[in-house]
Amino acid sequence: MVRGPPPRSPVTADIFAGQPTDADLLARLYDLEHDQVSEDLVFYREQTRRSGHVVLDLGTGSGRLLRSFAAGKGRTIVGVDGSAALLRRAEQRVASEPLLAAARAQGRLHLLPGDVRRLEQLPLRRLLGPHGADLVVAAGVLPHLDGPEDALRMLSGVRHLLAEDGKLILDDLGPALLPDRDLPLSVDWEREMDGQTAVRRSQLMRRETPEGLRVAFSTIVDLGRPDGTIARLPASYRLWYSSYDVLAAMIGEAGLAIELAYGSHDLDPPNESSERRILVIRQTGR
Ligand SMILES: C[S@@+](CC[C@H](N)C(=O)[O-])C[C@H]1O[C@@H](n2cnc3c(N)ncnc32)[C@H](O)[C@@H]1O
Repeated sequence: MVRGPPPRSPVTADIFAGQPTDADLLARLYDLEHDQVSEDLVFYREQTRRSGHVVLDLGTGSGRLLRSFAAGKGRTIVGVDGSAALLRRAEQRVASEPLLAAARAQGRLHLLPGDVRRLEQLPLRRLLGPHGADLVVAAGVLPHLDGPEDALRMLSGVRHLLAEDGKLILDDLGPALLPDRDLPLSVDWEREMDGQTAVRRSQLMRRETPEGLRVAFSTIVDLGRPDGTIARLPASYRLWYSSYDVLAAMIGEAGLAIELAYGSHDLDPPNESSERRILVIRQTGR
């Protein structure tokens, strides 16, 4: 019998679906790491101030960027994410930050569960208004998609929601931060979580493909309990770091065009040692 490659499990919009660890716990651990990222907050505040009256944040996660949109005077702010557990954390953030709570109370801030590859299924036209979105942000989302077809679905959906002069920002790791070799299981960090010590170990396996770098990334968090026992929380993710050329082709196919590229949130020009790949994208015309 000839055996083919093992079937690939379908990529869901919920990054915690099917993980052996409780989604709410994974979402807390996710925040423990991601909430420390702040170097892009001013960039998004300024992008909003310049052009973002109506902002759509794709893969909003626990809402880390929402404050930047509000501080940049975003009039309407809509966040979409596939993880119910992360959206619950985003709701907590909105309730606890006065600027966000006020926007919510005024009906200007909305959080929606949904798949960024199926934006047409969400009531976004109604929430964004007839003009569409002035600023669409997808920060760290693309690597969670399964490849060019998924990317094209998201980009085509965005194109239909963008205001005529609106822009999409795709913001991902740059070449300098992509792994250049497999990494064996090793300790990433040790932090406090609610008085308990969390130690994260991870390992990754990489595979170069024509459409970019594929990475199988697994994490194990050991959480020390007060009684001295340890809860072990495993999770694994499949990531795709698209090649520039393949992504640019998908952007073109979706009726969009790259207007600017930056290699950092300080607007440095992109090069091989850039830590970010930030693309500012506009419509090519309806
Ligand atoms: C690395 S996080 C970035 C979160 C946020 N943009 C930030 O910068 O802090 C990626 C987010 O994309 C979401 N995501 C991944 N695939 C998705 C999909 N198909 N539909 C909706 N959300 C998705 C995940 O749940 C996660 O919140």
